[in-house]
Amino acid sequence: MSRYLFDNSAVQTIDRFTVLESCYDQFSRQQLARAGLTAEWRCLEVGGGNASLADQMGERVGPGGQVTVTDLDPRWASSTRRPPHVRLLRHDIVHDPMPGQDYDLVHARLVLLHLPERLQVLQRLVGALRPGGWLVLEEFDCGWTPVLAASAEAEVLFHRVHTALMGLLAEAGADPLWGRRVLAAMMSVRLSDVTATTYAEAWRGGSTGISLHRSNTDQVADRLTQAGITDEELSAFRHLLTDPAFVVNSYPLISVRGRRPSENDGQEGIR
Ligand SMILES: C[S@@+](CC[C@H](N)C(=O)[O-])C[C@H]1O[C@@H](n2cnc3c(N)ncnc32)[C@H](O)[C@@H]1O
Repeated sequence: MSRYLFDNSAVQTIDRFTVLESCYDQFSRQQLARAGLTAEWRCLEVGGGNASLADQMGERVGPGGQVTVTDLDPRWASSTRRPPHVRLLRHDIVHDPMPGQDYDLVHARLVLLHLPERLQVLQRLVGALRPGGWLVLEEFDCGWTPVLAASAEAEVLFHRVHTALMGLLAEAGADPLWGRRVLAAMMSVRLSDVTATTYAEAWRGGSTGISLHRSNTDQVADRLTQAGITDEELSAFRHLLTDPAFVVNSYPLISVRGRRPSENDGQEGIR
């Protein structure tokens, strides 16, 4: 069974999805366009959360294409009405049979980071591509969140609570540094044209982006306390996230794309 730390049954989930959508969807859309996403493509969106990106992919491929969006717990996407070519599935990418094959594009954002079986899942995703099809994996590097403006005390507090949160993620089988490892992993499964683009921005106290830290720490507050963070520290941390004088770098989202080689690849030099 998955040990996903931030399971979607928690009330904080909707705030998390709101941040991810408003801070990262525009960048992700650009990366999907760079992979060539176009009308009539067949796409798989894995662990789609509130399905905001899948819905945008559906608009791009149009009724002649198809988007299958999956999630272990799709409750936050299920209330939206969708056109027939966008299909929402409850699906575990680790254990369930793949929902289809020969996709033009397979995309996952912030999903494999959480899965202890991420390398096996990577193989499954590659296996679901048509020859020449694109895999786009977008993941955080949670090890690069420099504080950009703060008192010395506030900076220490931020890193103390954040480090404890990363410890909980790692205990649950996540790899907080997975973002920096994705490109090598995708090269090792013999994808071609593998390249990456990274996005980050400053998150000021009180902004939409910085509230991701609030959602994440609130959801596991009990466990942070068990890990040694005091109630006073948690309360000061929450206050910090509303202070406009405090600025921290967002999580950098590393977007890696690569193509499954097609039968014709490598033929040019032979002729
Ligand atoms: C951090 S959220 C990211 C959501 C969305 N991809 C985004 O970037 O906005 C991770 C999502 O992966 C889903 N997930 C976790 N384990 C999964 C699994 N084994 N199979 C499918 N989805 C999974 C969660 O339910 C959650 O919706």
